[in-house]
Amino acid sequence: MQADKDFPNGLEEEYYQINNDILQSFNKFRPPLNIYRFKEDVSRVLPYYKVGERLSKEQTEELSDMVDAGIIFVSRDDHPVYVKHISYQLDLVLLDKHLKEKEIAEIFKAALTRRMAAFFDQPVKIVYDKVQEDVFTFTEYLWQDLSHIKAMARRLHTEHSLANHSVNCGFMGLLLHITGLPSDYNVEAKNRQPFDRTALGFFLHDIGMSKVPPFIRDKTKALTPEERQKVQTHTMSGYEMLGRLDVKYSEVEQCLTQHHERLDGTGYPQRASAAITPLGQVCAVADSFCAMISKRPYAAAMDPMAAAKRLCDDKRYASEITHRLLNFLVTEMKK
Ligand SMILES: [Fe+2]
Ligand SMILES: [Fe+2]
Repeated sequence: MQADKDFPNGLEEEYYQINNDILQSFNKFRPPLNIYRFKEDVSRVLPYYKVGERLSKEQTEELSDMVDAGIIFVSRDDHPVYVKHISYQLDLVLLDKHLKEKEIAEIFKAALTRRMAAFFDQPVKIVYDKVQEDVFTFTEYLWQDLSHIKAMARRLHTEHSLANHSVNCGFMGLLLHITGLPSDYNVEAKNRQPFDRTALGFFLHDIGMSKVPPFIRDKTKALTPEERQKVQTHTMSGYEMLGRLDVKYSEVEQCLTQHHERLDGTGYPQRASAAITPLGQVCAVADSFCAMISKRPYAAAMDPMAAAKRLCDDKRYASEITHRLLNFLVTEMKK
């Protein structure tokens, strides 16, 4: 337990207190960021350790005691360093009570993007397990308060890469999923498992693109029919690939195999509108929206509001879902 102290007003704005789990995650003798101590006699926060120095063994013990006493802080100015550090051990985020919602959003974004990039590079079981672990840490955080997803949806990547797109779709898919839940949806009475697997589906929907050669993925000119056909295999090849890794959840299957299906039957691979599940429809809207708002090799980024309006006018998408997207953006604009 950290001691309750009488800290001066405004201190939490500039610094945040760290706990021993966080301290232990740092290099013991050479922490990656400056550390400050609250001095009660002068009622101020003073430097204790500067990056580049080395702590003695005695100091590391003293530091640990002071962390327990609740008087050790890091500066919010060092947040970028802290984000990078903590994003490698994502479960620490859930233990840190001093991070603000937007800081947590940045940490999840950095961590999940790096993890997805690793999985696209190396789509093997050992990397998949890490993806799943991080996605489930993320859903555990959301489960504490589903409205946290809004802070994520405000921080989408604007540059295209497969990993960036996957994370954007993870965030927007979950936003559309969560805003579509009934108003009396009570997480305490629910099993989290379907929610976890739905999140996985959004993040992994394009994993089959790892099998499409980069020269086709990044082509700036129109694709030839053969190249288009190759791209279109990514839905089923992704699904088969995850099957080989023993990932066989229905929610993941729906996202992977249906996100390019359209209500009028013009999508792929089935070209059958009746087969699209509500989750497949959400993933289709999230996917198209995220593609439209990021700068791609062959197209400029669209303004999010214009993209949502275009999707609302496009009858190949479920209008209830596209309007939910538009409503979110309109509400955000008013803030
Ligand atoms: Fe796709
Ligand atoms: Fe996609």
